[in-house]
Amino acid sequence: MSKIHVTTTVNGDEVEFLTDPRETLLDCLRDHLDLTGSKEGCGTGDCGACSVTVDGTLVSSCLMLGVEAEGKKIETIEGMAGKDGELHPLQRKFIEHAALQCGFCTPGFLVASKALLEKNPDPTETEVRYWLAGNLCRCTGYDKIVRAVMDAAAEMRGAA
Ligand code: FES
Ligand code: FES
Repeated sequence: MSKIHVTTTVNGDEVEFLTDPRETLLDCLRDHLDLTGSKEGCGTGDCGACSVTVDGTLVSSCLMLGVEAEGKKIETIEGMAGKDGELHPLQRKFIEHAALQCGFCTPGFLVASKALLEKNPDPTETEVRYWLAGNLCRCTGYDKIVRAVMDAAAEMRGAA
């Protein structure tokens, strides 16, 4: 099958790649752009491990085709820390609260949590749990993740 040329913006940088029209955005990020932070847990939209934002909207990249990325602005976990390597407050708080164990789900949780705090900088615990209901973790039991998000939100509000 002939490949399709896609130009898109990932973490602020314009990139181009060739893709089979049936490939998912997740596969394109991982296999064509070497951005392997987004994980494939299920491939069916159920686990959130592949979460990215596309034009500011949280999406499961396993459910989107790579060709649909044409002209879009995509943010992945690789763009979360500053250019100088300084961790985002959410990343620091996940570490401080031990909100990860194997870490497989963590990129998805971080991307989803950042999307939440951009929409709602002061979420209640219930709102955090509701927003993150699409992200599954088999290790942490979720409480530490929720505490990390609430703590990061408080710190970010203080800094704003
Ligand atoms: S891999 Fe995309 S939701 Fe699970
Ligand atoms: S830390 Fe292992 S799946 Fe979440």
